[in-house]
Amino acid sequence: MSTFRNLSSSRRLALGLLGLAGAGGAGLALSLERAVSAADADRFAHAPHFHWPHEGFLDSYDVKSIRRGYEVYKNVCAACHGCFTVAYRMLRNVCMTPEEAKAEAKRATYLDGPNDEGEMYNRPGKTADYLPKPYPNEQAAAYANGGKAPPDLGLITFARHGYENYIFALLTGYQDPPAGFQVDEGLYFNPYFRGGALAMPPPLYNEVLEYSDGTPATKSQCAKDVACFLRFAAEPWHDERKKLALKLVSLLALISAALAYYNRHVWTVLINRKVMYVPKKKSS
Ligand code: HEC
Repeated sequence: MSTFRNLSSSRRLALGLLGLAGAGGAGLALSLERAVSAADADRFAHAPHFHWPHEGFLDSYDVKSIRRGYEVYKNVCAACHGCFTVAYRMLRNVCMTPEEAKAEAKRATYLDGPNDEGEMYNRPGKTADYLPKPYPNEQAAAYANGGKAPPDLGLITFARHGYENYIFALLTGYQDPPAGFQVDEGLYFNPYFRGGALAMPPPLYNEVLEYSDGTPATKSQCAKDVACFLRFAAEPWHDERKKLALKLVSLLALISAALAYYNRHVWTVLINRKVMYVPKKKSS
């Protein structure tokens, strides 16, 4: 086998230089990355970390919060944002009874068709329908919102650094711009938004709606609940995933214990063997 020591000296030098260049390159990349995030840092604030009810390894979603979050979404956000990942049937047995989900779907109207006469028609929603979209297309959405189309919220939690922390920080972070910060017409200052100003007017304030469960609807309560709902929208199988992981981990622990026992069992004779050298007795 050839080792570093018995390579020729020129090869050793070449290899050494290659190593140095690699390490240098990695260092440069790291410092550039740092420089970029430092430049970003003065443009927008990093969302702080909050303790979410579903955060821990063994924690499931807080379904009451999801129910309230759905109410916030429906009464406030749905005027401008769609949520393409949630169908009414998915709310069933999560934050609504099957009857409630059915009634909720029926209250929405969907354009369907064409019928036998080739006409499109409106029909009440079914539980299989996904939540209705506020605008027929992206252009209409942009036109109604000063040129910036409100993004679909279905996967927004996973599409932003900080996940639901970002949603919460964004919704509660509106404030007056610092002196000297120019905010264009039709934009609102928010330090959590990349660039510092966005086209969404502050959607939440205290008592923006009345919760059906009587929880006081403060701004931060609404922001927390809608963040929980949007996390649910992005990952409806969250609870199943954790349950499966728990089963897998316990199963693996059992299998490892069995294998460890079997391993000892197989090797026990060899491990416990005593090797003795008995000198031959000299025959006298
Ligand atoms: C009046 C319309 C309107 C309402 C109501 C509204 N939004 Fe928005 N929202 C917008 C627009 C417009 C943008 C795009 C902003 C931009 O890109 O400058 C946006 C962007 C966003 C973004 C993406 C920010 C990013 O990082 O790109 C999130 C998240 C969001 N809204 C959440 C919500 C939530 C949650 C609610 C309900 C509590 C809500 N919005 C209510 C109009 C609205």
